[in-house]
This record gives sequence, C-alpha cells and structure tokens, in this order.
Amino acid sequence: MKLFNGILVAVDGSEASQRALETGASMAAAHDEPLHLLYVIRDMQFPEGLSRMAEVERLVGSRADVLGFVANKLLKQARRDARDLGAKQVETVSREGDPATQIVALAKEKELGLIVLGTRGLGTVSGALLGSVSRKVSNIAEQHVLIVR
Ligand SMILES: Nc1ncnc2c1ncn2[C@@H]1O[C@H](COP(=O)(O)OP(=O)(O)OP(=O)(O)O)[C@@H](O)[C@H]1O
Ligand SMILES: [Mg+2]
Repeated sequence: MKLFNGILVAVDGSEASQRALETGASMAAAHDEPLHLLYVIRDMQFPEGLSRMAEVERLVGSRADVLGFVANKLLKQARRDARDLGAKQVETVSREGDPATQIVALAKEKELGLIVLGTRGLGTVSGALLGSVSRKVSNIAEQHVLIVR
C-alpha cells in the first residue's frame, strides 16, 4: 500500500526548494509514490480602474508571457532532477494565485497525502525562520507537511 497516495513538492527555483525537491523525489523513488511538482505564479493586485487601462493590460500580458516561460523552464529542470533521483512517475503543474492556497488546493484535488516544501524561498527572510509560504501551508494544510531544512 502506498503511504501517501502521491507526494507534492512545491518548487520556486530557490536553493531551499531544490533541497525539498531532492528529498521529495528520493522519497517518491524509494516508496514508488507518484510525484507532483507545482510552481505557482503569484497574483498581481491593482486598483480596479488602473487594471482596465489599455497600457496596463498590455504590460500585464507581456509579464504573463515572461512568467509562463520561466515557469516552463523551472518545471522542466525540476522534472529532470526528479527523474535523475529515480522518481518514475512525475507530473508538473503551474498555477496562478496565492502560492500557499494553490499548493494546498492541488494536494486536496489530487488527494496527495504529503506536501514537501523548503524552509525559505526566493524572499529575503534569513536564519531559521520560515518563509510566509511554508508558514501558511503548514497552518492551513490538512495533509502531512514536510519542511526540509
Ligand atoms: N511560488 C511558489 N510556487 C511553489 N512553491 C513555492 C512558491 N513560493 C514558495 N514555495 C515553496 O515554499 C518554500 C518556502 O518559500 P517561502 O516563499 O515561504 O520563503 P521566502 O521566499 O524566503 O519568504 P517570503 O516569500 O515570505 O518572502 C519554498 O522552498 C518552496 O518549497
Ligand atoms: Mg517566497
């Protein structure tokens, strides 16, 4: 019997998330668990009136292209790394929105029993403190959460 029914690793391209990926992929390989890799593109928030300006719409469009490109690159590399570590079944997903909310939502939708994250990400939090995404996920998730130090 599978212990988790699948493992979700949240990746943001940071060193800490790379360690989380290595741990999650090794666990998936050792226990023959399907591995899901998720990258979340963050929402941008504007005042109503401004977001409808033609210039802003155009700029938001080109930002979305850049972010989509980066998401693809990042997930492709993560998939390769996971395969190299022996993970057999690897799915990659990118979503938009609040990272923690999307991470927990995907785990719930796919009924994945374990979420793996790094302590920190690309932000500027230092020391042993958790970043806001790992903090929020561990607060709201109904699944097991593994925070890789
Ligand atoms: N956009 C994202 N998509 C997927 N996973 C993410 C994303 N952002 C963070 N994570 C996951 O959460 C872990 C912790 O990152 P977090 O964002 O909490 O720290 P931080 O960037 O240092 O702090 P903050 O974002 O609060 O400034 C990462 O190692 C990664 O596993
Ligand atoms: Mg962050």
